[in-house]
Amino acid sequence: MRGLKDKVVLVTGAGRGMGQAIAERLTAEGARVAVTDVDRETARTTADALDGAAGFRLDITDAGEVKTRVGEIVAALGPIDALVNNAGWDRLAPFLETDEDLWERLIDINLRGPIRMTKAVLPQMVERQSGRIVNIASDAGRVGSTGESVYSACKAGIIGFGKTIAREVARHGITVNAICPGPTATPLLESIVGEGNEKLIESLKRGIPMRRLGEPDDIAGAVAFIVSDDAGFITGQTLSVSGGLTMA
Ligand SMILES: NC(=O)c1ccc[n+]([C@@H]2O[C@H](COP(=O)([O-])OP(=O)(O)OC[C@H]3O[C@@H](n4cnc5c(N)ncnc54)[C@H](O)[C@@H]3O)[C@@H](O)[C@H]2O)c1
Repeated sequence: MRGLKDKVVLVTGAGRGMGQAIAERLTAEGARVAVTDVDRETARTTADALDGAAGFRLDITDAGEVKTRVGEIVAALGPIDALVNNAGWDRLAPFLETDEDLWERLIDINLRGPIRMTKAVLPQMVERQSGRIVNIASDAGRVGSTGESVYSACKAGIIGFGKTIAREVARHGITVNAICPGPTATPLLESIVGEGNEKLIESLKRGIPMRRLGEPDDIAGAVAFIVSDDAGFITGQTLSVSGGLTMA
């Protein structure tokens, strides 16, 4: 893909799952990736396997750490050309069985986290009159999903937030887009449905027109496209990568 060579891309939650696949794909396209994760070890192990990448602990719920770490990443790799807000977390429960503590955690990771990250990297993108922000939202944020009420609210929120930022910074050459995975085979999905819960996995597949779960690489390809020069005139958009599950 055009324009990815030597681009500096910060990916959150890149120690495993989709974030790891995104870091691998961007590296294969020639980018230099800041592999960040709340889990320092997986961030470093992932980065060590990738040419030109560097691994950092970065907890997106910690405002102080976000600020300090973004500074360290710029010092190590250079100005950030693209931010991929990938880190996320969920726990399945009917709304009436949830409480304030769970809402708080969901909102802090899935909504405040990407907002914090955007605030931390956007000023330098404006200064350089160029940049890309990609928010990994979810089809749950477009159409809802049973057992994921507050998570869905956060993902819908991040889609709306991104559209607004897209409008505000378009004149500075910065694009902001959302990618919405459907059910995708990652450790998060395993933890949500319960490892080995084949019955539930089969019913998820039946709901997907292409009759399979997403793979992390499916998401990584879409992210690489959005970060590339080929997507330079695309902003404020929401792209489902979910085998046709959602045609919104
Ligand atoms: N897997 C799915 O079916 C699915 C579907 C729709 C959307 N998503 C979204 O895709 C993104 C990636 O999910 P995944 O399935 O790869 O999950 P995953 O749990 O496999 O990986 C997420 C990574 O984020 C990290 N993380 C969690 N909290 C963090 C924090 N506070 N700061 C920094 N890093 C943190 C974890 O350590 C982990 O390495 C998330 O935003 C998720 O909501 C996933």
